[in-house]
Amino acid sequence: MSDHRSLLVTSALPYANGSIHLGHMVEYIQTDIWVRFQRLRGHQCVWVWADDAHGTPIMLKARQEGIEPQALVDRMKIEHETDFHDFLLSFDNYHTTHSEDNRYCAELIYTRLRAGGHIAQRTIRQAYDAEAGLFLPDRFVKGTCPRCQAPDQYGDSCEQCGATYSPTDLIDPVSVLSGQPPVEKESEHYFFKLGDFEPMLREWTRGGHLQPGIANKLDEWFENGLQDWDISRDAPYWGFEIPDAPGKYFYVWLDAPIGYMGSHRHYCRRSGDDFDQYWRPDSPVEMYHFIGKDIAYFHTLFWPAMLHGAGFRTPTAVFCHGFLTVNGEKMSKSRGTFITARTYLQHLRPEYLRYYFATKLGAGIDDLDLNFEDFRQRANSDLVGKLVNIASRSAGFISKRFGGELTASLPEPQLYQQFVMAGDSIASAYERREFSRAMREIMALADRANQYIDQHKPWVLAKDAERLPEVQGICTQGLNLFRVLITYLKPVLPQIAADSEAFLQIEPLTWVTVQQPLLSHTIGRYPRLLERVEAEAIQAIIEASRDTDTTDEPAPPALDLAPEIGIEQFLQVDLRVARITAAEAVPKADKLVRLTLDLGSETRTVFAGIKAYYAPQHLVGRLTIMVANLQPRKMRFGVSEGMVLAASAADDQSGVFLLAPDSGAQPGMRVR
Ligand code: MSP
Ligand code: ZN
Repeated sequence: MSDHRSLLVTSALPYANGSIHLGHMVEYIQTDIWVRFQRLRGHQCVWVWADDAHGTPIMLKARQEGIEPQALVDRMKIEHETDFHDFLLSFDNYHTTHSEDNRYCAELIYTRLRAGGHIAQRTIRQAYDAEAGLFLPDRFVKGTCPRCQAPDQYGDSCEQCGATYSPTDLIDPVSVLSGQPPVEKESEHYFFKLGDFEPMLREWTRGGHLQPGIANKLDEWFENGLQDWDISRDAPYWGFEIPDAPGKYFYVWLDAPIGYMGSHRHYCRRSGDDFDQYWRPDSPVEMYHFIGKDIAYFHTLFWPAMLHGAGFRTPTAVFCHGFLTVNGEKMSKSRGTFITARTYLQHLRPEYLRYYFATKLGAGIDDLDLNFEDFRQRANSDLVGKLVNIASRSAGFISKRFGGELTASLPEPQLYQQFVMAGDSIASAYERREFSRAMREIMALADRANQYIDQHKPWVLAKDAERLPEVQGICTQGLNLFRVLITYLKPVLPQIAADSEAFLQIEPLTWVTVQQPLLSHTIGRYPRLLERVEAEAIQAIIEASRDTDTTDEPAPPALDLAPEIGIEQFLQVDLRVARITAAEAVPKADKLVRLTLDLGSETRTVFAGIKAYYAPQHLVGRLTIMVANLQPRKMRFGVSEGMVLAASAADDQSGVFLLAPDSGAQPGMRVR
């Protein structure tokens, strides 16, 4: 095994004005698999990221909702973080770019760059919406393409002919805010002199820090010359004010990558880790950024130059990935393929998608497609049909016939040894982010394990009392092969791995524990590790994602408020945090799920009308909020001892959403 390494990993920061969708999840699952792999190998690996909270779109979205930007970004951060937890992402810190940590880092980097003479100031003319009272970002101006005359194009580039230009070049431009033609207005701006760093950047981009496709792209950028980068925006702007420049704000893309540093600083303040050790120029820590190819320019030119210019280390590597399409096309609301993370999670366990993306991801920047039929088949045939099958076939006999006892030796140690030896190639594939290759190699081993069991037919031998010892050996062999496979898949399937460790009654598996087989050991009862993906679940996801009319949404109906109550009345309702420890659909009721709720010191049974919205097995382990002092109610299927809280529209048509406390809450805590 390689020497101990220390790594700092980041993912790109999602904007705080929208929900997480499956496109984002490509990147975040890719990062998580890699990070978990590093830790499984015994390395120290810290993963930090954050919400990208600044900029005009977020300011305007808050205005539209009639709330403060702060309230919007607070809400989005909780939503994003909950999605990420539920997708089993193992990040160490999730912060926001609108934080004091980030302000500190942004000001530090800026003032050091300024001291080094890398900031310029000059007056520019810019599109201004006089009615809205704002300078307009490029995307907020639309008009006719100056090159191909296509109407209705954005101010930065033409979707028809691919031309890039500035908003002032458009023919008949209008502001998307007011519909009025923008006027040109002068204002003083601050620039980062990227050209100062050309020699350093040329060396860095050829220094093995980038994928070949990206390095080639950079050569094009160098040829076009490195332009000064406009890093300031005028008030009103939602962001950090620039030091010594009242009314001027850092452009969102300045403090966004610095958000990696801000989040890491926050992490270090909480964990006691040494921030400077990570960021000084001669740092021994490896630093990696996972990003989509659309934001390579920011991460491979501006960011290393800013870091270098401010006296910090530069990234060890930037890992770009391609874009997700669904059923071969760009994600679309009208086709029901613009799928949010939450919609997916309401119908399916995260591990199916984690595995599916793993089978599709390589080290390059090719786009990848989520094809639903392929997705379902992969999950069912590989995970249920191959992987889980090995355990369920072997464990049944061991529990029922042999009191859970594994034999003292393996009938085929050389087969076990082959599985162990395959680990090097699988590890190297993970390390190089060739996840699809790792999955292929692991599934080839799973085929071998199933072949082994098929050849020896323990179910036939078990009928003959004299051959029972053989059956015990075969099943011990089967479970040992399963244990190796689950170790190799642990970065992708963390929950199934944890459930396997639990029923095998073993300590957490690591890459080295597979070297020794598990012998003369008692295992627990086999739980169903994974269900098949049903076509109905996928249909339900598509239905729930289909937005038939995205252009002119009807105004929401007026709130139909219940009569006012006093605080004393409210406090009579005893709300508690509860953990769902078991959930099963009530067979004869079309709506009900029977929940077992752990309140810390007691357990309750509650029936909830959420069958249509949640797969029961998937509720297990979640925290929710319950009314704990509701009179017990006798129902046809049993007594309901309380009520769980969920949000829904008046007609339940747009779904039912179970409430959950933020992470860290404990069962039994009072809610008010
Ligand atoms: N806020 C910026 C990133 C700042 S990083 C200092 C941003 N946000 S984003 O929400 O638009 O995208 C976040 C990440 O998700 C980016 O790396 C982006 O490439 C990735 N993806 C967004 N849509 C995607 C797909 N459809 N497919 C794959 N990745 C996608 O950019
Ligand atoms: Zn054009």
